[in-house]
Amino acid sequence: MSHFIAAIDQGTTSTRCIIFDKDLKAIASAQEEFTQHFPNSGWVEHDPSDLVNTVKSTFAQAIKEAGLMPSDIASIGITNQRETLVLWDRITGEPLYNAIVWQDRRTADFCQSLKDQGLEAMITEKTGLRADPYFSGTKLHWLLKNVDGAKERAANGELYTGTVDTWLIWKLTGGKHHVTDASNASRTMLYNIHEGQWDDEILTTFEIPKSLLPKVKDSSADFGHCAESELGAAIHIGGVAGDQHAAMVGQACFEPGMMKSTYGTGCFAMVNTGDKAVTSKNNLLTTIAYQLDGKTVYALEGSIFIAGAAVQWLRDGIGVIEEASETEAMAKAADPKEDVYLVPAFVGLGAPYWNPNVRGAMFGITRNTGPNEFSRAALESVAYQTLDLIDAMRADSGELQDTELVLRVDGGMTASNWTMQFLADMLDCEVDRPTVLETTALGVAYLAGYQSGLYPEPAQFAKEWALDRSFKSLIDEQLRAKKYDGWKRAVESTISYG
Ligand code: G3P
Repeated sequence: MSHFIAAIDQGTTSTRCIIFDKDLKAIASAQEEFTQHFPNSGWVEHDPSDLVNTVKSTFAQAIKEAGLMPSDIASIGITNQRETLVLWDRITGEPLYNAIVWQDRRTADFCQSLKDQGLEAMITEKTGLRADPYFSGTKLHWLLKNVDGAKERAANGELYTGTVDTWLIWKLTGGKHHVTDASNASRTMLYNIHEGQWDDEILTTFEIPKSLLPKVKDSSADFGHCAESELGAAIHIGGVAGDQHAAMVGQACFEPGMMKSTYGTGCFAMVNTGDKAVTSKNNLLTTIAYQLDGKTVYALEGSIFIAGAAVQWLRDGIGVIEEASETEAMAKAADPKEDVYLVPAFVGLGAPYWNPNVRGAMFGITRNTGPNEFSRAALESVAYQTLDLIDAMRADSGELQDTELVLRVDGGMTASNWTMQFLADMLDCEVDRPTVLETTALGVAYLAGYQSGLYPEPAQFAKEWALDRSFKSLIDEQLRAKKYDGWKRAVESTISYG
């Protein structure tokens, strides 16, 4: 039997493939960015063929780097940007439209009309989500209403839809498997997370035929075999999870009260609530963390839309840096007397504010403000936003109030010691960075390898989780309160500006 697992991480701005060996050690990786399409203000799209092609090419590159053949891979795990949705012809496999990305705000009016009709409470009760354009359901409603012939063809059973995992599996298996996992399903706004099935009442409300939707499986399950023509061998797909859920697994957050936060394009914090689907009183989401061996584990989630994307904006938007890694030194060099705040509401604000219409702002700019202060404000905005989430979690979750809070962090930004120290200063809790920062890929590799019998039980995997560095607050309460007060006022002003 082969002893290698390929983890495919199809993210918002790039696709990665990482090869893991039998000891869950990463031995090779490849990454490719792809084009972002912004056809209108607040609209974000991907070409669905870019997603498939970058998966194929990063897989080929990673295999080559590892000195392996495709047939050496025992199983593939797929983790993905969540909520982003594709609609395609089930016979030809051709998409009817670009993928509508999670950040896309085009359905804000439809969401408002759901609220006006008093339907949000029913949606939240069943799905754990809110009437916000973030989730896939209203994107699908838009496609069926606005793409010529889509509604009729959907009614005739000619179409399939799915989140990115579903689209990739469909393509990689040569159109044989139309499937997803429970974690991805829980982000669609169409899935009843308590009953574990697509919800008829919501489907009727959104005018979506059930025949469009994939079969929902555990996160570690048989998702079919790839067609030889796609990746060069008939490799089994054994693990699937939304990227934040895979990170939860990769961080071994298997016990209630355990919490992680992943810093990618956005930032997503999740706390495990075990077999209880806790309803948030503080504007968080209830979601399926993962589903393993037929058991559903729930989480509370706080979702921030812009984290690493703020650094990307410094680089690609206003050109004050050339490389993301420059921001750490610039933040250190920034003038401490400059109290500059960036509210990066580029695509509205997620938790706990949930305002799709507000846009970004900067506060406190003087004649001395320059690239260093911009960089520091961008990094600090990530910590302030995380504190917004953690405060909501503290208020929501009984488990957290009784225990010493520990936040496990991962994702590209966590490589910056300065940012992690500032995060610990603001959260006033222990911030733990593991040795493996590619936790998302690790998590889905584990799910795939667990399914094929290569990797041990979760408890053993949790024992092997290794700490790189623990950050603790170094500032006093007064300074923390002053800084956070400035952030709160900046957010309030941004929201009232509209
Ligand atoms: O919900 C969106 C999320 O899954 C995207 O993750 O890694 O692209 O920030 P990321």
